[in-house]
Amino acid sequence: MQHVLLTGGAGYIGSHAAAALLQAGYSITILDNLHNSSRSVRPAIEALGGRPVDWIEADIRDESALDRLLAQTPVDAVIHFAGLKAVGESVAHPLRYYDNNVSGTLTLCQAMARAGIQTLIFSSSATVYDLGQKMPLREESALGPSHPYGWSKFMVEQILLDLYRSDPTWRIALLRYFNPVGAHPSGRIGERPNGIPNNLMPHICEVARGRLPYLTVHGNDYPTRDGTGIRDYLHVMDLVEGHLAALRYLTTSAAPLVLNLGTGQGTSVLEMVNVFSEVTNRSVPVRVGPRRPGDQAACWADPGRARTLINWQARYDTAAMCRDAWCWASREETG
Ligand code: NAD
Ligand code: UD1
Repeated sequence: MQHVLLTGGAGYIGSHAAAALLQAGYSITILDNLHNSSRSVRPAIEALGGRPVDWIEADIRDESALDRLLAQTPVDAVIHFAGLKAVGESVAHPLRYYDNNVSGTLTLCQAMARAGIQTLIFSSSATVYDLGQKMPLREESALGPSHPYGWSKFMVEQILLDLYRSDPTWRIALLRYFNPVGAHPSGRIGERPNGIPNNLMPHICEVARGRLPYLTVHGNDYPTRDGTGIRDYLHVMDLVEGHLAALRYLTTSAAPLVLNLGTGQGTSVLEMVNVFSEVTNRSVPVRVGPRRPGDQAACWADPGRARTLINWQARYDTAAMCRDAWCWASREETG
């Protein structure tokens, strides 16, 4: 049985990956500083996974905590979810982002190297691309982040590729997520945004719950089919399946894996609102506001390489994304 360390495993994507890994027969350790998550997710992961998890509350920048952990636990691979991810905050506090996301990854890799652990899957993002170019984005499309959060992902990608070049016994996967949404179909784990959410799906849920009066559509004058922004939303369950497939690939293949994880389908803001209302029977009033600074008209993936190399393809549609996001959000409402 393989043992996987999940940094940031208490967070939104990490908690879904934790449950999926347990279900697939892996044993896991979650290491998280709970900056953007809470202990309450642990029993839910254990219930879904059917087994206990090792749980360490520590920071990835804490060298001695990492050394202790890696000396005690026979870790075969690390999935590195830990990171800060708020674009606006990264513009206001770039040093915080470079310290947490870049220095944190350096500290983690150094500890892995000391412990002789060389398999690492990294949570990257579509935000590493120059989003002004023609869609869909392929892995060889031009890179060019537009904010410190994006640059922190770009820098870590570069560091990990250099690490591989210096020592090809490392097994590295850089997974570029498009727009993860939804929740575990059980409704027991999901995304818990801090404060007023910025992203579309949590915002739609807040409106459907009656906590916000309406959804502000950030611009309806884009050159898209209905004038609103188009993104490649993918179900978090599909996303975590991509990690399991990448993990399997790394056990047999050497070259670094750089992959888009998206559906290849673009959905507009109004299309998503309509699907959500239909599936959940909740009304989501909208008001059109100005464009959000920094937004692009459209962004979607060409996921062909993931299909070819790791035999992964997204299966859930937007109806399932909305249904499961709402199942989680409405369950939270009733406790
Ligand atoms: P999240 O905030 O829910 O989870 C991240 C977890 O990492 C949190 O539990 C947080 O407490 C922990 N963490 C942060 N800094 C840490 C540190 N220094 N030491 C230990 N733990 C730390 O975010 P998420 O949505 O689950 O994202 C996971 C990863 O995927 C992040 O690296 C993010 O940048 C990346 N990503 C997310 C999205 C998205 O839309 N959610 C898109 C692309 C990439
Ligand atoms: C945002 C981040 C991106 C990050 C991604 C993760 C910015 C500029 N970019 O991207 O770096 O990787 O989240 O999921 O923050 N929308 C509304 N009303 C709302 C919220 C969103 O109309 O209240 C629209 C947006 O204008 C956009 C679409 O919905 O067209 C999706 O927005 P969002 O969920 O924030 O994702 P991204 O913009 O792709």
